[in-house]
Amino acid sequence: MAITVAVSNQKGGVGKTTTALHLAVATALTGRRVLLIDLDSQANATTALGIPEASVEQPGSYHALVNSDDVSPRWPQATAIPHLSVLASSLEMAGVELELSGETDRLHRLRPVIATLADSFDWIFLDCPPSLGILSVSALVAADTVLVPVPPEQFALDGMARLTSTIERLNDAGQTRIDRPMMLITMAQNWAPAKMKRALQVRQTHGDAVLVAEIPHSNALDEASGDRTPVFFTRPNADASENYLRAAAELIMRHEPALTPTPEKIEAMVAEMRTQMKPLASQKGPDPLLTDPPAKHHRRRRSHSRSGSRSGDGPKIYRSRRRLQQAIGASVLIIVSLFITVLVIDA
Ligand SMILES: Nc1ncnc2c1ncn2[C@@H]1O[C@H](COP(=O)(O)OP(=O)(O)OP(=O)(O)O)[C@@H](O)[C@H]1O
Ligand SMILES: [Mg+2]
Repeated sequence: MAITVAVSNQKGGVGKTTTALHLAVATALTGRRVLLIDLDSQANATTALGIPEASVEQPGSYHALVNSDDVSPRWPQATAIPHLSVLASSLEMAGVELELSGETDRLHRLRPVIATLADSFDWIFLDCPPSLGILSVSALVAADTVLVPVPPEQFALDGMARLTSTIERLNDAGQTRIDRPMMLITMAQNWAPAKMKRALQVRQTHGDAVLVAEIPHSNALDEASGDRTPVFFTRPNADASENYLRAAAELIMRHEPALTPTPEKIEAMVAEMRTQMKPLASQKGPDPLLTDPPAKHHRRRRSHSRSGSRSGDGPKIYRSRRRLQQAIGASVLIIVSLFITVLVIDA
């Protein structure tokens, strides 16, 4: 029987899809059978795994919600990553809220879908859309737990607060099994004091509901989404890769009854994931395997270029060259002025 995690935050662009995708891939790397259910009409999670959008011939999440009685274990599609399947989304999902709005069981459509598929998987991740409409609430009703990606910015925290109160209301009405939402800090910018402060506030306010792993704001993730490949296979040594592996290990250990998360066990599980990742990375990644400099170097390089772009100064080497040019220019100007002054005095 699968453990079902809804990845949700009503705020858009906070990293829901990126998180659902990477946690699903990382969990599959441990040999657990994983299903990613894409509930977003943008179908980004589907296409990131190289799977085409769902259709009448190969039904997906839209068809499952509209005809939950017809769902079959053949609907999830196997991906190139061993043990990982996806229930694909499609553009039709954009109209499903309207289509289901008159149905009395609209908030319970996902539960039977998951019940039908749960025996074939160990973990199910639900990638929710950026709203608290029928789709997201159905996911909350069907899930065992919810993971909220929160970048350290006020709007994302507001989105989280609204989600938490929705869960409380659903709990009061006996509609969900969710105890307490978990949070994952995403897009962390540890060189920006205001963002660091807010991340710290999230940890102080929510304690151990926040996963220890923290996903940095990362060009590697942005590039990987452009390549439609999980970052593990394009930049395996980037900070973002390491922290998504750690977040997945932590999540697994928090929820599987036989496991208790300790730093040593998390290390061991991450090492196991990395072993499984290597042969896949050499097949899938556009860059040669493990050619990245170590994660620490990424952070340093990134922070330089970012602080550079904020101030408009550019990387350090260019700043030094520019300063040298300025010094030479000033010296030439002084020499010319002195020369003219001497000429004037002579005259
Ligand atoms: N940690 C990160 N650092 C930098 N870019 C990121 C990070 N996480 C995600 N992104 C990028 O931010 C954009 C939004 O991410 P994503 O699609 O995962 O958010 P979302 O919450 O699912 O969005 P939506 O609400 O539209 O469904 C994507 O281009 C993604 O590649
Ligand atoms: Mg998304």
